[in-house]
Amino acid sequence: MSSHPSEPAAPSADRKPMTIPRFVGAKREGRRLTVLTAYDHLWAGLLDEAGVDAILVGDSLGMVVQGRSTTLPVTLDQMIYHGEMVVRAVKRALVIVDLPFLSFQVSIEDTLRNAGRVLKETGASAVKLESGVNQAATIRALAEADIPVMAHVGLRPQSVLKLGGYRVQRDEERLLAEARVAAEAGAFGIVLECIPGPVAARITAELPVPTIGIGAGPHCDGQVLVTPDLVGLTPGQPPKFVQQFANLRQTVEAAVTSWSTAVRAGTHPDAAHTHS
Ligand code: KIV
Repeated sequence: MSSHPSEPAAPSADRKPMTIPRFVGAKREGRRLTVLTAYDHLWAGLLDEAGVDAILVGDSLGMVVQGRSTTLPVTLDQMIYHGEMVVRAVKRALVIVDLPFLSFQVSIEDTLRNAGRVLKETGASAVKLESGVNQAATIRALAEADIPVMAHVGLRPQSVLKLGGYRVQRDEERLLAEARVAAEAGAFGIVLECIPGPVAARITAELPVPTIGIGAGPHCDGQVLVTPDLVGLTPGQPPKFVQQFANLRQTVEAAVTSWSTAVRAGTHPDAAHTHS
């Protein structure tokens, strides 16, 4: 496990609800943004209480929650199901829901209907889509329909079949072009996934909207992580860019082992935990 602060971070003192203008304004004000994933009510409430600026209902739920090897099978109905649970727990953070594979690639009309369903049926504030230069018209149509849209460039997990794996993306000019196109088309923010730190720094310096990095180094306007990676719940070796700030897997395993031992020994539940 890598190093982590010994004291828990203070929840953000600012309890004003996060809005799209405040999220975008953070860049101007030099305030770094914190974004984490949540897929259910319990974790969303916890993250919101801890003061994160935004909660992403990522289609990473296909891997994290459903145990699949890619995000491709995730459906729009599943995103709406999880998004709705998350929104019900959140008082302050901006909730952003991923548009899953094939929910925004077929046609603009189809995309508007799908993104509209996400906002109407979950109560979330924005959608995110994985965007190459080809998605400019789609992003523009969403923005013109007043559907706040976050773009996602760099490693795009929905393109894993074409890419042949989850690898760092290094084509600087293509990455810059994708980010520019997304911002010009009206994206209010851009996730930069698995790109070299200096490239993320260049994109961040050039764009007027916040960049949110994951595996993109420290010079983004904010950071996002998959929460189970951050708290050490994900099994196996985490990717290089993941710094674990807790080891909850160990904590939970120890609790379950202690409970099982107590049950088998007949010492749990004790008198204090038994109705008279
Ligand atoms: O699906 C997801 O959780 C994401 C983040 C990793 C940015 O897109």
